[in-house]
Amino acid sequence: MTRRDFINATSASYASLLAWGMLHPAPASAFNLPANGQRTDGKGRKVIILGAGLAGMTAAYELGKLGYECTILEARSRSGGRVWTIRGGTKETEIGGGSPQTCSFDNGHYFNGGAARIPHHHQLTLQYCKELNVPLQIFNGANESAYLYNDGGTGDLANRRMRISDYHNDMRGYTAELLSKALDQSTLDQQLTKEDVEKLIDFLKNEGDLNTAHLYKGTNRRGYKIKNDPGAGNLPGTLTDPYGLTDLLRSGFMQPVFYNVGDYAYEQQATLLQPIGGMDAIPKAFEKKLTGKIVFNAPVKELRKTENGVRVIYQKDGKTVEITGEFCVCTLPLPMLKNLESDLSGTVKRAADFIPYMKTGKIGLQFKRRFWEEDDGIYGGITRTNMDINQIWYPSFGLQEAKGVLIGYYNFYSRAEAVGALSITEREKMALALGAKIHPQYPNEFENSFSLAWHRTPYSEGGWANYDDATRKKYYPALLEPDGNIYFAGEHTTYLTAWMAGAFTSARRAVEAIHARVGEYTKK
Ligand code: PHE
Repeated sequence: MTRRDFINATSASYASLLAWGMLHPAPASAFNLPANGQRTDGKGRKVIILGAGLAGMTAAYELGKLGYECTILEARSRSGGRVWTIRGGTKETEIGGGSPQTCSFDNGHYFNGGAARIPHHHQLTLQYCKELNVPLQIFNGANESAYLYNDGGTGDLANRRMRISDYHNDMRGYTAELLSKALDQSTLDQQLTKEDVEKLIDFLKNEGDLNTAHLYKGTNRRGYKIKNDPGAGNLPGTLTDPYGLTDLLRSGFMQPVFYNVGDYAYEQQATLLQPIGGMDAIPKAFEKKLTGKIVFNAPVKELRKTENGVRVIYQKDGKTVEITGEFCVCTLPLPMLKNLESDLSGTVKRAADFIPYMKTGKIGLQFKRRFWEEDDGIYGGITRTNMDINQIWYPSFGLQEAKGVLIGYYNFYSRAEAVGALSITEREKMALALGAKIHPQYPNEFENSFSLAWHRTPYSEGGWANYDDATRKKYYPALLEPDGNIYFAGEHTTYLTAWMAGAFTSARRAVEAIHARVGEYTKK
């Protein structure tokens, strides 16, 4: 009897399944704090939240449930922070002399400039989507029909595109063949019994699709030659031939950019999800729950400690405004905190100064035809290359529509720095020229673009906190403690950096800490 049969047969309740350890509890159900955030005079305790990104809005939403009175100060005219969907009409001017951009995508077309995929195990993110009625769809992250392209290599297979599935199947085949040969030669005798070896060889035969002689001679897993697909009548199809092992090895595909992250990296394994209509559906849903609580176009200028709380000075309509509160939840990204006039402690200031942020950028390219679907059979997924464009992301939505926007580059570190330093026009030129090496249709089909470099984007100035062991040890702890009545939240205060899940979980941690402290006061 399988678990499913058992559950169906007994119609076991949710509670009993939980009790038997057959289900994981929904994380939000554990977040059940008593609603005593109000003072004895019936008014809510005042909390000033800096930043209307996911961390700030989650903090306001959860504190609101507990009776606190929250005000969010947001420097931008929109919510969401690094959760930002680019559509027709989106405007941005980057810092460091960037020229103004206005997106001219057609109606209904967009790309997620920041957060763009939700791993299936980010339960808290999924929980908030559910709670806020944000419908999800599949984000196709691993598509074996997308390409690898090694530029500048010398092998026969360099400087030309290769289907990911050809590469994976051939490498699996050859490595399985080599290992099965080693087993045949009894070199592993000491560790394994004869029966074990036979079973292992069976596994390798399947893993690599080896023939009866345990040799890799190609596989139908790579598919058929173009125009020789199986069909009606006398059309059995002609299989493709494998590439040679030495050709594969000498063509540069062992570089990290080509790793099979879609299968191997925990955060990128199927299934990935995304909100229907753009990632900003999440911040927009929070905004609806926070009517009247967000002050937009209100960049914070000073953060001060007072005897009983905090004092925040911000700019609004050219005027300087001051507000006070009992607590502050500061979700500003560290590059912003670094430049803020404040009474923050030395350890927090040093954290802001020395925790590096990722340089990263994307470009959305609108094409008048979805040639990657029509000509290449690519529906979502990611092409990888060692060129400056690094990755091409094909949209997992709007399939078979007339037009489409794909992400023409998504890069990090020095590639993002180099590309981000270019003018908007030069970025577009670069993305088109390099992308055309993989997709020769680019020049004919291109319509318009919108690019961004997060390290040059006002009020973010970086993609995400990029810790190593040393900075984790030296600077991170300062962000976990309140500094007087100031609490820190945001992905940079978690081990889930670079994910929305980090923003969510950090906000809940701050809310719990504030609420526990208030609980202590009210006991006195
Ligand atoms: N979460 C971001 C993304 O999915 C950044 C990231 C990239 C995090 C790769 C981990 C690995 O693109």
